[in-house]
Amino acid sequence: MSNTTLKGAQAPILEAFHFRHAAKSFDPTRKISDDDFGTIVEAARLSPTSFGLEAWRMVVVQNPALRNELLPIVWGGQGQIPTASHLVVLTVLRGDRLNPQGEHLPAFFRDIRKMPEDRVSWMLSKLQGFFDREFHLETDAKRTEWAARQSYIVLGNMMTTAASLGIDSCAMEGFDRDVLEAKLSGHGGYDQATHGIACLVAFGYRAKDQSPRTRRPLGDQVIGWA
Ligand SMILES: Cc1cc2nc3c(=O)[nH]c(=O)nc-3n(C[C@H](O)[C@H](O)[C@H](O)COP(=O)(O)O)c2cc1C
Repeated sequence: MSNTTLKGAQAPILEAFHFRHAAKSFDPTRKISDDDFGTIVEAARLSPTSFGLEAWRMVVVQNPALRNELLPIVWGGQGQIPTASHLVVLTVLRGDRLNPQGEHLPAFFRDIRKMPEDRVSWMLSKLQGFFDREFHLETDAKRTEWAARQSYIVLGNMMTTAASLGIDSCAMEGFDRDVLEAKLSGHGGYDQATHGIACLVAFGYRAKDQSPRTRRPLGDQVIGWA
């Protein structure tokens, strides 16, 4: 296959991608059903993560009073936060918990991944080399950002799944992260000591028509065929 043979806009999945856009506000009278929201969360749960670590969690902020408190902090969500049917905060395990010498990772491999002891030891030493040498994730802060990178796969899958159900969304990272973490800590089980915030995503039904979309032409993204 080469650039000249790339053809888009054929497969049914692309309908969801064309439907999805960054909705700036939602119809406040329309709520997503529990079934549909459950499907969106299941798509998140099934999302892949590097080494299968699932180092992310979500908090769903539905309390209008709490949303009002978030509003001055989230400059990128002024229309979305008050009107969204569901407002999700994607949080990630802090890098100190992603230390192979710590307690969290061995327990995760044993209890969730059901690995035998020799495999747990192998995974921990692999991760140590990966963090220290291969991906240069030596510091807690870098490992927190690495966990946030994984959570954006979750984010994308949630938004595409929502779009396939006719549900609109908007990802948001227009906020002061330290201030938002402090404000949210203690709500919905969120603890800023153990988790950082990666991004927010609002779901609902569009209040306005989608503006015309701009994108680079198909093939422009492929820098070469090696
Ligand atoms: C990680 C991420 C963060 C974003 N943050 C915001 C935000 O804070 N506020 C906002 O209105 N849009 C936000 N957006 C939406 C983008 O501006 C939008 O996706 C982009 O302009 C392309 O438009 P489209 O999604 O309608 O195709 C964000 C998108 C992503 C993926």
